[in-house]
Amino acid sequence: MFDTMTMTKVTGAVCGSLLVFLLAGWAAEGIYAMDAGGHGAEGEVQQAYVIDTGAEPETTEAAAEGPDFATVLASADAAAGEKVFAKCKACHKMDGVDGTGPHLNGVVDRAKASIAGFGYSDSLVAMAADKWTPENLNAFLTNPKAYVPGTKMSFAGLPKVEDRANVIAYLAANP
Ligand code: HEC
Repeated sequence: MFDTMTMTKVTGAVCGSLLVFLLAGWAAEGIYAMDAGGHGAEGEVQQAYVIDTGAEPETTEAAAEGPDFATVLASADAAAGEKVFAKCKACHKMDGVDGTGPHLNGVVDRAKASIAGFGYSDSLVAMAADKWTPENLNAFLTNPKAYVPGTKMSFAGLPKVEDRANVIAYLAANP
């Protein structure tokens, strides 16, 4: 009789616990499945997490900084660059003749201040050991007066990286 009572209590306790675990597990699964969409849940949860918390600030940063010059140059458009060059035409020619500025055909990878007979500023002459790589042209065209303090080139610069890359592609296409 005593044994039966104990057994009943123990059995009841075990059954009760099992029921609680079952219900808790079932409830947890239900919540988990609702959030994650069931099958393939792990991947979806991770993706949702990355998109919500990772991609958003990255996009904002990328928009603020813009794509880097090398990336833009890789897909630059020389025809679009010819249109940008309209801003340079007042001073620069592409036929080997100098104007207010030195001729720019062949300027990509040309030594700086290297056109004989052109009256460069002392500041640019001081850089003559260096070359007009696309990267240097990019820096110069972003802000000529910052890159060559004291330059004779009275030009504010091209603020858009696409414009700079396109005009450099145009210059590169005209050796
Ligand atoms: C208002 C006239 C003017 C405009 C507009 C102008 N430039 Fe110039 N540019 C000059 C002058 C003057 C120099 C010589 C600078 C010096 O000696 O410091 C020069 C120098 C340069 C050089 C260096 C050439 C060398 O032989 O070392 C490059 C490259 C250049 N310009 C590119 C451009 C491009 C590209 C544009 C248009 C986006 C442009 N410039 C617009 C007047 C101009």
